[in-house]
Amino acid sequence: MPLVIAIDGPAASGKGTLAKRLADHYGLPHLDTGLLYRAVALALLDAGLSLDDREAAARAAEALDPEKLDDPRLRERAMGEAASRVSAVPEVRAGLLLWQRRFAADPQGAVLDGRDIGTVVCPEAEVKLFITASSEERARRRHRELAGRGETASFAAILADIEARDARDAGRAAAPLRMAGDAVRLDTTELDADAAFDEARGIVERTRGSA
Ligand code: DC
Repeated sequence: MPLVIAIDGPAASGKGTLAKRLADHYGLPHLDTGLLYRAVALALLDAGLSLDDREAAARAAEALDPEKLDDPRLRERAMGEAASRVSAVPEVRAGLLLWQRRFAADPQGAVLDGRDIGTVVCPEAEVKLFITASSEERARRRHRELAGRGETASFAAILADIEARDARDAGRAAAPLRMAGDAVRLDTTELDADAAFDEARGIVERTRGSA
């Protein structure tokens, strides 16, 4: 059976890095689903439209070209917040769902990371991980990452961003951030990227071994 690994968790929990490393390790394609929501938000902003224009957001999701997810603007701090806003629109989520499912149905298997992979996109995934870390640690990581790219923002502003995003992503009605009942929780507050990868790989091996 193709191996599908579903990875969910809040902003800056380390799930993206972990997803990439697991994908490399198992030779699987990887989809960072946050980029899809970021691309919808960017399409609205580029067209001079409001992020609160639900119909335009739904159309942007329908029209999204998944080949164009390498725009560096998608990774900017403001785009995370903008993506969180458009991602609460059910029509946006519906517009992106099929494409994500098709990606996950790759005969090789796949690794997807996001907020609702284990609960909505891939409820049948063989392995589900829910990655967490304290909000202070997540803010420290995001601060370092942004500084590395030359984006300056205060630690306090980043922490406030993260807490606002957590509240919106977990509080929305449509596919909120939630741990699937059959997911394994991995708290990375005290783990560096290598240690988190070792733990995650152990979970994958144990889950597959017990199948
Ligand atoms: O993972 P990220 O920070 O790039 O995600 C940006 C926003 O997109 C996030 O705050 C909520 C939304 N998102 C979502 O609702 N569902 C997903 N599967 C992935 C991201």
